[in-house]
Amino acid sequence: MRDEIIKKTKELLPKEPSLNDYDKTYQSFEWKQAYKELDWFEDNKINAAYNAVDRNAQGDRKNKVALYWESDDGQKLKYTFLDLMELSNKFANVLKNLGVERGDRVFFFLPRVPELYYGFLGTLKTGAIAGTLFAAFGEQALFDRLQNSAAKILVTNKELKERVDKIKGDLPKLEKILLVDAARGDRGALSLPREMSGASEEFKVAHMDADESAFMLYTSGTTGKPKGIIHQHLAILHQHMSAKWALDIKEDDIYWCTADPGWVTGIAYGILGTWSLGAATLVYEGRFSPAKWYELLQEYDVTVWYTAPTAIRILMAAGDELPRKYDLHQLRHLCSVGEPLNPEGVKWGKKIFGIPFHDTWWQTETGGILIANYPIMDIKPGSMGKPLPGIIAGIVDDNGKELPPMREGNIAIRPGWPGMMQKIWRRQQKYESCFINNWYISGDRGYKDKDGYFWFIGRADDVIKTAGERVGPFEVESALVEHPSVVEAGVIGKPDPIRGEIIKAFVILKDGVKGSDKLVEDIQKYIKKHLAGHAYPREIEFVNSLPKTRSGKIVRRFLKAKEMGLPIGDTSTLVE
Ligand code: WTA
Repeated sequence: MRDEIIKKTKELLPKEPSLNDYDKTYQSFEWKQAYKELDWFEDNKINAAYNAVDRNAQGDRKNKVALYWESDDGQKLKYTFLDLMELSNKFANVLKNLGVERGDRVFFFLPRVPELYYGFLGTLKTGAIAGTLFAAFGEQALFDRLQNSAAKILVTNKELKERVDKIKGDLPKLEKILLVDAARGDRGALSLPREMSGASEEFKVAHMDADESAFMLYTSGTTGKPKGIIHQHLAILHQHMSAKWALDIKEDDIYWCTADPGWVTGIAYGILGTWSLGAATLVYEGRFSPAKWYELLQEYDVTVWYTAPTAIRILMAAGDELPRKYDLHQLRHLCSVGEPLNPEGVKWGKKIFGIPFHDTWWQTETGGILIANYPIMDIKPGSMGKPLPGIIAGIVDDNGKELPPMREGNIAIRPGWPGMMQKIWRRQQKYESCFINNWYISGDRGYKDKDGYFWFIGRADDVIKTAGERVGPFEVESALVEHPSVVEAGVIGKPDPIRGEIIKAFVILKDGVKGSDKLVEDIQKYIKKHLAGHAYPREIEFVNSLPKTRSGKIVRRFLKAKEMGLPIGDTSTLVE
């Protein structure tokens, strides 16, 4: 039902939203007006970490809890803004003692532990570039990212280090490994606690130009290895304003972002934008489970919750009785990101929590939310909403010509907003190819309706979104052909009612090897270990041939159409 509307009556607005007149703000807002929301040094320079933490720690919010942390095994810790300032200062001093300089890359390969949060901030304070690596990555994924970024320092733990040990020999630029859970140095690694214990709590935060690099994240496209997306220090302005307007974060909120800092959401809205607003953030190290998640919402009195459609669908599937066992009345704003949020999910929020889920749309490349449903605005369930004030969004054809309402095309944004990627690490051409006719082309397709709401249709390329995580088919194919029984592989995202998509691989086996269930399992295990725990094909089909162009490129679009029983389209360029 595309014409259905959720009207924002008073009872759906438990608090006056920060953005209380969307149209008026949209029409008049310019980013420059918001510069005063940040603290600038006297020399007109900034530092994102200083804005996220130090300015709070030096003012009235000094002893306010910034981070409620709960470990996988139930250990609970609290950190005030002052704690985070001192810990990130110490960490910055540790890096300085190790010779880290402005622009060097410092990577974190960790589960959601406190060291990741203050380490990330401490890195920004030195002027170095912080990068994160999702803890499910295997050695191949790690190698590609650490090698491309030429990371100098890696912060990890004892368990994850075993994966790093296998590739360390081929990473000559990697100078030091810091272990967060080792009391003393061990086999070529230093103990972070030990280094921290001798470090000062005072640190002179690096004054950065607004466009100097702050952090980088690897993300996947259709072809080639993952690309290192670089964001500038000024990105925090976009994250701060969008956290205020779209997530409606206020300083007295207890906010839970369920995304991992290995992905952009966990950084933009798990560290930077939300702490910059002075809110308290909950971090749960453990895995997802419906009962545990409801328990956390209740126990920490979470007020604003930012999560993903796959999680919402799993919660829905767990039944409506379960949430009713918990007192969740504190929740006042619910948001979602990462994949299309079905209208059912939006409405289910309303049924269970009394408020609907608000969909938000953006990407690693965009640094922050670009299109969203705002608390003040009526929701059309299934729509991603309208552009954030300061963002000009359009639907354009492949030449960058804007299309009228109701026409499908590329979702595109006028360049120049503060969270926009600043470069793709060592791939300038790739970066430039993202812009056509003064539009940033997102790679997503959609349309805009007559009221200015944007609707998502799908990806323009073969990028897979499985349980909200972005996976490049090329990376999976490359890992598959490393398996001793595999000659060739083609990988697609196959629609799935819970996960959005699952990864499906079509595999040609070596002569004489017979396909079997055991071989499927064996290949899956191989991918989990070598590439990533989340990026393995849940389905594998053994085939004798793969559709290819004359130049030998596998045509995934053809595999996908066949899998879904759709018309195959033009096959004139195919060989087989
Ligand atoms: C998809 C995540 C539909 C989209 C912040 C985009 C969405 C990719 C939505 C970026 C949404 C994100 N509706 N699709 N609300 N939000 N996507 O880089 O395809 O991990 O291009 O950033 O996720 O994924 P990424």
